[in-house]
Amino acid sequence: MRVLVTGGAGFIGSHVTEALLEAGARVAVVDNLSTGCRQNVSAEAVFYEADITAPDLGDIFTFEKPEVVVHLAAQAVAPVSLARPCFDASVNITGTINLLEASRRAGVRRVVYSSSAAVYGAPVYLPVDEAHPVQPISPYGASKYAAEVYLAAYRRLYGIEWAALRLANVYGPRQDAAGEGGVVAVFCRRLREGAPPGVFGDGEQTRDFIYVKDVAAAVLAALKSGGGEALNIGTGKGTSVKELLQVLERISEQKVLPRYGPPRPGDIRHSVLDPARARAVLTWQSRYSLVEGLKQTYYAAEETPNAK
Ligand SMILES: NC(=O)c1ccc[n+]([C@@H]2O[C@H](COP(=O)([O-])OP(=O)(O)OC[C@H]3O[C@@H](n4cnc5c(N)ncnc54)[C@H](O)[C@@H]3O)[C@@H](O)[C@H]2O)c1
Repeated sequence: MRVLVTGGAGFIGSHVTEALLEAGARVAVVDNLSTGCRQNVSAEAVFYEADITAPDLGDIFTFEKPEVVVHLAAQAVAPVSLARPCFDASVNITGTINLLEASRRAGVRRVVYSSSAAVYGAPVYLPVDEAHPVQPISPYGASKYAAEVYLAAYRRLYGIEWAALRLANVYGPRQDAAGEGGVVAVFCRRLREGAPPGVFGDGEQTRDFIYVKDVAAAVLAALKSGGGEALNIGTGKGTSVKELLQVLERISEQKVLPRYGPPRPGDIRHSVLDPARARAVLTWQSRYSLVEGLKQTYYAAEETPNAK
């Protein structure tokens, strides 16, 4: 199978690329290296340093003739979207449209897109299933959702199959400490440095932390089955920031004395995704326990080339 992966030099994209190569796919990566880095891209993948918003993006498609596309490239940081909403929309919406145009011209069969739990905004019930109202509270959440709507329109118009994976808080090796859900990356780095981790608020806020290799497995499953809908990709389990620190304390074999600060304005208190639909449609479920995933992340921290 010939696969084109946008954002393949980034955190999730590099793991997806590895999983695809292991499965025997031919992989072409398109990434402008704005937050990703070249060392993240496996030597077995073909690499194009290119922007998804570029007018000549289609040339890569003409040359590579991908059968399927995994679209992960994005402006992926919610606070950046608040500071620069037009830039966020140009990458996440216009970039996606540009990619869909190149895809239809090249006869791409299917696009798997990394959406986000951010489309739901502040949950009105937990766990959040796909029937939950979509009410984003950041331009990032709005742009990620807008791209889903375009995917659905391109299926109606041109028959391109699609799946949007609404990812919970992804963590794992190679995560940039500044990215969305980067709390695990930040904590691991602080612990390795023997520095006290900072916690916003009381640490009782919960998130659905999912290990990156589980996300890569979901992407591979979505390339083969299902389609025409958005699916939650999470563990279905909430973990508080305090619990996260306790687990990391055991793994790193050191006593953690966090520094508590004021809560971040606009932060959601609790967020957990219900992955039942993805389980049914993709025959997928998360396999890594939090302890296992955090162990792998903590011990891989030294290899992280773009850790900030
Ligand atoms: N990390 C999470 O917890 C999380 C949660 C929900 C959704 N997501 C989504 O998953 C995807 C990957 O996120 P990530 O955490 O790996 O972030 P990342 O920043 O590590 O990866 C994004 C990649 O896209 C590239 N990129 C950005 N703009 C580009 C452009 N205009 N043209 C080409 N390449 C461009 C970057 O260089 C980077 O390599 C994003 O779409 C993000 O919205 C991530």
